[in-house]
Amino acid sequence: MKGVILAGGLGSRLRPLTLVTNKHLLPVFDRPMIYYPVQCLLNAGIDEILIVTGGEHAGDFLKLLRNGKHLGLRDLHYTYQEGEGGIADALQLAEDFVEGGKVCVVLGDNIIQKSIKKAVGEFFSQSEGAKILLKEVPDPERFGVARIEENRIVEILEKPSDPPSHYAVTGIYLYDNDVFEIAKTLKPSERGELEITDVNNEYIRRGTMTYDVLDGWWTDAGTFESLHRASNLVAEGGANLVDEPATNGLSGVTNTA
Ligand code: DAU
Repeated sequence: MKGVILAGGLGSRLRPLTLVTNKHLLPVFDRPMIYYPVQCLLNAGIDEILIVTGGEHAGDFLKLLRNGKHLGLRDLHYTYQEGEGGIADALQLAEDFVEGGKVCVVLGDNIIQKSIKKAVGEFFSQSEGAKILLKEVPDPERFGVARIEENRIVEILEKPSDPPSHYAVTGIYLYDNDVFEIAKTLKPSERGELEITDVNNEYIRRGTMTYDVLDGWWTDAGTFESLHRASNLVAEGGANLVDEPATNGLSGVTNTA
């Protein structure tokens, strides 16, 4: 299975920091934010990755990640999202890269403590559809939120003022190739974006959406509060490194060729 990291968008909630660099290159404790989704995919056995980025500082990804070999990647590709049309808009740019197969999508500002290898393995055996990873949070209104009935997700609401549960939809998504056909049918939301929640609701409507609840901590890092929390969590408990130690050069201090 191939992996896609979505690292576009303007990072406007982190201005002025994001006036001079891309949000996903900002430090989270001892390494750039983008290292964490890369490590997340690597730990799940996915070493062919496409990074979708955008904005004025896209070239800096090349300086940092180069061809990805020094990070343990087999193959690293890049593409460029014009504007900030939403997560599902960015994902559409991955269609050719995925070549008709399944895909694991990780949002570039999502950081997790543990490995998603088990969920990826389960999805590998799932004949069709999608799988999302949920996490119980105290502030679900900041996220996509799952309404769960009898152990099935019946609906996802994007940033609801009255959340139907405490289960946030994390930014880790597993899709079959239908995702690209579904994304083409979407209309922009009120905030002018093609919403990944609309993609997920279509899979729910088709009856082919499964889910797991993430083990360990999860955070986004797209606001000053969450960026600060992410750094603290990593400093205190490590990230993605619990199951397997960092043996592939993804350490903040290593500068291997
Ligand atoms: O973090 C999980 C949440 O991410 C989910 O619970 C929500 O359902 C989902 O909509 C998303 O919410 P946010 O509003 O917090 O997403 P944000 O706009 O911050 O974008 C998250 C990442 O997606 C960002 O770091 C880069 C990528 N992105 C986003 C946009 C809008 C792109 O690559 N291109 C884009 O145009």
